[in-house]
Amino acid sequence: MTARLVAETGSAPYNAYTQASVQRNAPSPNDAAMTGAFQRNGATCMTSPSYPGDNSAKQLDDLRANAQQRTEIDAALIDLFAPEDDALKAAIAAGQDANMPPIQISPLDGRLLQVLAAACGARKILDIGTLAGYSSIWLARALPADGKLISLEMSEKHAAVARASLARADMSDRAEVRVGPAIESLPGLTDEAPFDLIFIDADKTGYLAYLDWAMKLSRPGSIIVADNCIRGGKPLRATTDDDPDTQALGNYDRLVASDARLVSVALPIDNDGTDGFAISVVVTSAKNE
Ligand code: DHB
Ligand code: MG
Repeated sequence: MTARLVAETGSAPYNAYTQASVQRNAPSPNDAAMTGAFQRNGATCMTSPSYPGDNSAKQLDDLRANAQQRTEIDAALIDLFAPEDDALKAAIAAGQDANMPPIQISPLDGRLLQVLAAACGARKILDIGTLAGYSSIWLARALPADGKLISLEMSEKHAAVARASLARADMSDRAEVRVGPAIESLPGLTDEAPFDLIFIDADKTGYLAYLDWAMKLSRPGSIIVADNCIRGGKPLRATTDDDPDTQALGNYDRLVASDARLVSVALPIDNDGTDGFAISVVVTSAKNE
């Protein structure tokens, strides 16, 4: 997984915990496909100002200052809104010790999940893709004491690490990790539905099937969040891409953007604005169609 991450981004494996200071490859404005994808009404949407003549040194200085500013803002926002306590830090360390890829959500993502849980009055949360339990801790902490988080994890080894992480966070009373391929566990959750918040952060090629289940296991007013829906802009490109993950994420984005049962947006809040969540509020549940 880490190898794929490296191949995909062209950079060293990144640690989301320190991602504020790590630059993943930002989409190049010179990339014809990308420029095309981001053209709207003939205007190219670029955030950097244009530089007439050869002023590349000044342009480089401005870009550096801009990157530095974004890093500082990210750190300050985490400090103010989403500081990690010992249990969250320990969950990251436990994942590293168990050789899991450091691909957990960012602290601001975690806080955003809690804001969304509060917005829908979440008492039951479904987490698809547990890994070391970092996002599960953020989600479980958004629940009342009698609330319930069910987290689905493919690997027994990862589930054991996550259960220990949740125990350290004192969340074992309301958080349960179920082992197996999510697509096989989901049909068994019908009796425990509806879930108020569903967070999808697992194998990308499964995203459409997980969305289908999220619709079945939710109610009007539920919130469905999916991680990695921007991924350097690749899923948003007009051109075709052979990578199955990219195709799956693009299909997910296009579906939630256009499905009349949902009100959705994707926010570029991660990895220096190159990745982020797709957030959907269910307005009509699948059961009521
Ligand atoms: C990968 C998966 C993730 O959920 C993520 O947030 C980042 C990377 C991956 O499989 O490479
Ligand atoms: Mg993810």
